Amino acid sequence: MLKNITCIDDLRQIHKRRVPKAFFDYADRGSYAEETLRANISDMSKLKFRQRILVDISKRSLETKILGEPASMPLILAPIGLTGMQHGDGEIHACRAAQKIGIPYTLSTMSICSIEDVAQNVEKPFWFQLYVMKDRGFVKALIERARNAARLC
Ligand SMILES: Cc1cc2nc3c(=O)[nH]c(=O)nc-3n(C[C@H](O)[C@H](O)[C@H](O)COP(=O)(O)O)c2cc1C
Repeated sequence: MLKNITCIDDLRQIHKRRVPKAFFDYADRGSYAEETLRANISDMSKLKFRQRILVDISKRSLETKILGEPASMPLILAPIGLTGMQHGDGEIHACRAAQKIGIPYTLSTMSICSIEDVAQNVEKPFWFQLYVMKDRGFVKALIERARNAARLC
């Protein structure tokens, strides 16, 4: 096991060792011919951080508002389907981590933990991502459950 995590690829290696291949591939690979995955990796690798020295950073803040709510930085955890398959209670852990750091968490429609399970185990309400399905009654019920979950936190 790696002692120190220094970059995303270190996390990738740990993930690979910890989960069955199908779960690793689900998160690691792209769809179809993986053209978009390759293009994204290539585009992102061109972005560089410019190092500066002797600059006072003691008063820098990334705080902002997202949809009117205060956030510690302009980031959200996007919905990731089947998170609970990668790690037991994965959705709860991810939501707790987001809330601890002060950014919104989005629960995917395709989650392992139920909306209520997550709500009962976190401090604050979270976002819910909805896949609109043909069965509108089912979709309506999901919206209702997401709305009610805010009262369980
Ligand atoms: C493994 C995986 C699972 C995802 N599952 C969902 C999902 O269930 N619902 C959804 O709306 N988006 C899903 N997405 C899309 C992400 O939420 C996100 O929008 C996308 O990865 C782009 O994020 P970025 O702008 O940070 O690169 C998934 C992405 C990945 C890589």
